[in-house]
Amino acid sequence: MSSKVSPLHPDFKLGVLGGGQLGKMLALAAGNWHLPLYVLDASRSFPAGRVTPFFTEGNFKDYDDVYRFGSQMDVITIEIEHVNTEALRRLQEEGKVVHPNPDMLDIIKDKGAQKLFYQEKGIPSAPFQLFETEEAVIAALGAGQIHYPFVQKSRTAGYDGRGVSVVKDEYSLEKLLPGACVVEEMVDIDKELAVIVARNASGQVAVYPAVEMAFNPEANLVEFLVCPASISPDVEQQAEALAIETVEAYGLCGLLAVELFLDKNGMLLVNEVAPRPHNSGHHTIDSCYTSQFEQHLRAVLNLPLGSTRMKNPSVMVNLLGAEGFEGPAEYEGLEECLAIEGMHLHLYGKAITKPYRKMGHATIVAESAEAAAARARKVLATLRIISNS
Ligand SMILES: Nc1ncnc2c1ncn2[C@@H]1O[C@H](COP(=O)(O)OP(=O)(O)O)[C@@H](O)[C@H]1O
Ligand SMILES: [Mg+2]
Repeated sequence: MSSKVSPLHPDFKLGVLGGGQLGKMLALAAGNWHLPLYVLDASRSFPAGRVTPFFTEGNFKDYDDVYRFGSQMDVITIEIEHVNTEALRRLQEEGKVVHPNPDMLDIIKDKGAQKLFYQEKGIPSAPFQLFETEEAVIAALGAGQIHYPFVQKSRTAGYDGRGVSVVKDEYSLEKLLPGACVVEEMVDIDKELAVIVARNASGQVAVYPAVEMAFNPEANLVEFLVCPASISPDVEQQAEALAIETVEAYGLCGLLAVELFLDKNGMLLVNEVAPRPHNSGHHTIDSCYTSQFEQHLRAVLNLPLGSTRMKNPSVMVNLLGAEGFEGPAEYEGLEECLAIEGMHLHLYGKAITKPYRKMGHATIVAESAEAAAARARKVLATLRIISNS
């Protein structure tokens, strides 16, 4: 470690690239330990700006901004993948502790490199091919090298489903995305699961129970997330083991969220990973012994990892901007939602709402996943995020 100061000393400097909702929730977790969290992002008006006074305005994609910010830190981590890894590598060479490892981050940032990594490490993942252009995909179709239906993903451009196109037949070819891409075989998905695993520099690992994701088909965003997943103990154990195998293959410290497909043959495949707190772990704040945010801090600071045990079944719903509204956010039905038993409201404080923008989330804890799901449906039916200007 570049500093002799202990991570729990008030002078210790932990820096995070990114000040969105994940940065905000990391700062809230750090606050319990009275650990200041230093954040770099474009504007103090972003979600983390409200909860940490140590906010530096700058661009986390810019070499100089990241290097200058990181130089003042003891440990540097991220809440978003799309950061300047050149600067992180230089900081690491100069003795700073950087988690996740910038070389692994470069692999994860590129969906093509990620797929090659799983192939090389023998980690099960959907069969794929890489292409440089949209025209090359069309040529491969003509030559019979790929077949409908398939899933095309931009190597670097996308997130939250925006860089993913499902191409069912020649009539949906107009949906092809431009630029370098991965073409994957369409998996016959039974369930989409996510397993969050933490690893620290001492090599300790801790894995959370699998969660089951239900997607909003229009926005292709997770809208309903259930823990525990309704899978057999055998599949649960395999999913947790696969997440551990994956984090160990990357050799990462911090959190790794592993998105998995359970196919109709009962096979588990790794879809993609995120080396940071993840939407599929928000429920842990209210339903597990240790939240994913505290766990990420423990992991990057090489502290003992917390228990991942579930206290209560839960359902997490993203609170998305309603369709047809863009402008200063207004929340309809908040008070009725707060009256729902076991409902924990998390608002991110984003000034502007847009259709499907993640404005907050709610976790409903209950005696069973079914009871939590019924109340989550009530939340979705009650709360509307709109704009009247
Ligand atoms: N090979 C595949 N077969 C079937 N569905 C897929 C496949 N790859 C992705 N999807 C669907 O598209 C969604 C988004 O893909 P993903 O690679 O996770 O991109 P993002 O970065 O947008 O989350 C997945 O959650 C899944 O629903
Ligand atoms: Mg995904």
